Amino acid sequence: MARRRQIYEGKAKILYEGPEPGTLIQYFKDDATAFNAQKKGTINGKGVLNNRISEHVFTLLGGIGIPTHFIRRLNMREQLIRQVEIVPIEVVVRNVVAGSLSKRLGIEEGTPLPRTIVEYYYKDDALGDPMVTDEHILAFGWANQEELHDMADMAIRVNDFLSGLFAGIGIRLVDFKLEFGRIWDNDYGRIILADEISPDGCRLWDIQSGEKLDKDRFRRDLGGEVEAYQEVARRLGLFPEGPDSAVLDLESHRKLRGK
Ligand SMILES: Nc1ncnc2c1ncn2[C@@H]1O[C@H](COP(=O)(O)OP(=O)(O)OP(=O)(O)O)[C@@H](O)[C@H]1O
Ligand SMILES: [Mg+2]
Repeated sequence: MARRRQIYEGKAKILYEGPEPGTLIQYFKDDATAFNAQKKGTINGKGVLNNRISEHVFTLLGGIGIPTHFIRRLNMREQLIRQVEIVPIEVVVRNVVAGSLSKRLGIEEGTPLPRTIVEYYYKDDALGDPMVTDEHILAFGWANQEELHDMADMAIRVNDFLSGLFAGIGIRLVDFKLEFGRIWDNDYGRIILADEISPDGCRLWDIQSGEKLDKDRFRRDLGGEVEAYQEVARRLGLFPEGPDSAVLDLESHRKLRGK
């Protein structure tokens, strides 16, 4: 394939110029980071799994009317997406107390929330992605009132849909992070779902055992990261492409059961 122009290299993905104006190619790396990139590592095969899982989830969300940047998957590690102007806000949706919420407020991890909580974080690595409120978002013009409403509304719809999807395969959707972006129709900016939805940005716990099937395995040095991501893909009815997939899958079972 001809060399493409690289637009951006992030911690988990690389963006290349797409084949047509307004498109990009999103390449999923195996690199993993945690705690604002203070912890770095690689999870062999993660990129392939996240590409596939995110494709699947975005396709299903598109099917219920959520506008997304996803166009189509190109190969094991790449997908074609619509280029957006990213809103510099991470939208976090929580159903169960975990991670920073547990630490900040001293509430035991695993406590179910009486109602879903939506939080906003300003995307700025140098500042450590600080939590902000809608007041800050509006005051600093990171999004306007209508955009904020659209993002919150879509976040709740995504949560309702994904909670059900995962519950159906024995997984508890504890929390997750979304990113949104603007696409322009003449002068009118419309908000669509962007980035990725994968075990990198979700907390997914096995309903029966409570086992973590997400990036917390990496954050907390639990091991079995790839096996966990594979288990999620397998339960979603996906199967990684490639000759080793059957072998890897058997191994994933062994490792997860053995831990
Ligand atoms: N459709 C899109 N158009 C333009 N940019 C996008 C789109 N979808 C995702 N992005 C951006 O592409 C980058 C994806 O790379 P990656 O997830 O590795 O970044 P990151 O290391 O998390 O960095 P960042 O702090 O910028 O999010 C992110 O900056 C994300 O906001
Ligand atoms: Mg990212």
